Amino acid sequence: MIFMLHHLERTDMADTRKTATLTLDGKTYDLPIHSPTVGPDVVDIRKLYAQAGVFTYDPGFTSTAACDSAITFIDGEEGVLLHRGYPIGQLAADSHYLEVCYLLLYGELPSAEQLELFETTVTKHTMIHEQMHNFFRGFRRDAHPMATMVGVVGAMSAFYHDSTDINDTWQREVASFRLIAKMPTIAAMAYKYSIGQPFVYPRNDLDYASNFLNMCFSVPAEDYVVDPILARAMDRIFTLHADHEQNASTSTVRLASSSGANPFACIAAGIACLWGPAHGGANQACLEMLNEIGTVDRIPEFIARAKDKDDPFRLMGFGHRVYKNFDPRATVMKQSADEVLELLGIHNNPILQVAKELEREALEDPYFAEKKLFPNVDFYSGIILEAMGFPTSMFTPIFALSRTVGWISQWKEQLSDPDLKIGRPRQLYTGATARDYVEVEDR
Ligand code: CMC
Repeated sequence: MIFMLHHLERTDMADTRKTATLTLDGKTYDLPIHSPTVGPDVVDIRKLYAQAGVFTYDPGFTSTAACDSAITFIDGEEGVLLHRGYPIGQLAADSHYLEVCYLLLYGELPSAEQLELFETTVTKHTMIHEQMHNFFRGFRRDAHPMATMVGVVGAMSAFYHDSTDINDTWQREVASFRLIAKMPTIAAMAYKYSIGQPFVYPRNDLDYASNFLNMCFSVPAEDYVVDPILARAMDRIFTLHADHEQNASTSTVRLASSSGANPFACIAAGIACLWGPAHGGANQACLEMLNEIGTVDRIPEFIARAKDKDDPFRLMGFGHRVYKNFDPRATVMKQSADEVLELLGIHNNPILQVAKELEREALEDPYFAEKKLFPNVDFYSGIILEAMGFPTSMFTPIFALSRTVGWISQWKEQLSDPDLKIGRPRQLYTGATARDYVEVEDR
């Protein structure tokens, strides 16, 4: 079988569309090419099987665009991340999380009036149904907060029936507000439950980040005042994790949603996917790794392990499927780590020293340079979160609550696509061919 794919640029005036021509066993097939506003062209293979009777093969989706999207753009070679066109560095420095939520959801920065209305609406949805408290209490007390979150968010569809109809645009809107507003409450409750402290109700006089810190760290026995500097750092962590185009958890949400599943079920699926250490679980794994390294003199040993093909160990917080340059989120996170530790009066933090030296030594090592492995967003976030007082088990839940708006924006975008089809990948079958069943006594 001859398989040949090449680009053709049509030059006739009537039709300037680009196509690729596939030659397969002597026959040719024209495949349309779509050009994005920015980024590489995309060959449209949707009709390939119907026309040529072949599938394409791309495990891990390294070269496959699964959807159209106008939300987030990443240029991995250049280390660029744009939300609705705005660079992440500008948003992290000058905007704040709820404004970025509005931008991701609606496509434009809000006016002052729109922002106020949006913030008020989110704030008014922060409490969860009182009966859901019982649901938390059903978990073992030492449950990982991510396990609790997967269960509780999935169970929201059993509590909020009036926002599960995906064909009703108003219900979709209400579900979006509920998820963005309640996720910090759920994450904080999962944490409180895991340490045996009473749940703390949300407070509508606090901003989004301060409210989350209050729900995590205040106790009925004494006053707790949220440090505005920590609230700002928290808000920045939320902002840096808000969306990241078609990553594993977002694609999970889209795939779940493509079957018509309700929004709470879809977001629970996203949380479950995010938990893995190759994805959102990397922040917990990274801090555990830095603690295990402990002192700078042990770094060469761990770098050698990361390079050893026979050792499954990887440098957590290093490498990315898309970024083959600095993760722009890591740059902001590193600055934030320095600022937060300084403000908290934590000088010469040994783990920060290990992180900085590990980064330096890895970047100078030809192995990491050749494979284009750079620190990602999770490399420094754990240091900030630990300095704020969070245990490592809360790192990924914080990622999940931050990413909820990204999942929802992508979910809404998908549902408004008139060409929406159920996601159904094909396979390269390598199993047995048809054979006859053999009775057990004859095997
Ligand atoms: N340490 C050592 N070697 C690595 C690492 C690492 N962290 N990451 C990739 N490599 C090597 C890998 O062994 C492979 O080598 P070879 O070509 O010789 O087989 C090569 O680099 C390419 O790796 P890959 O696994 O094919 O790349 P991928 O795009 O499938 O995986 C990744 C990306 C993020 C899963 C991977 O880099 C990794 O496991 N990193 C550590 C976990 C981590 O920090 N994840 C957080 C990602 S950012 C937050 C988020 O968006 O979730």
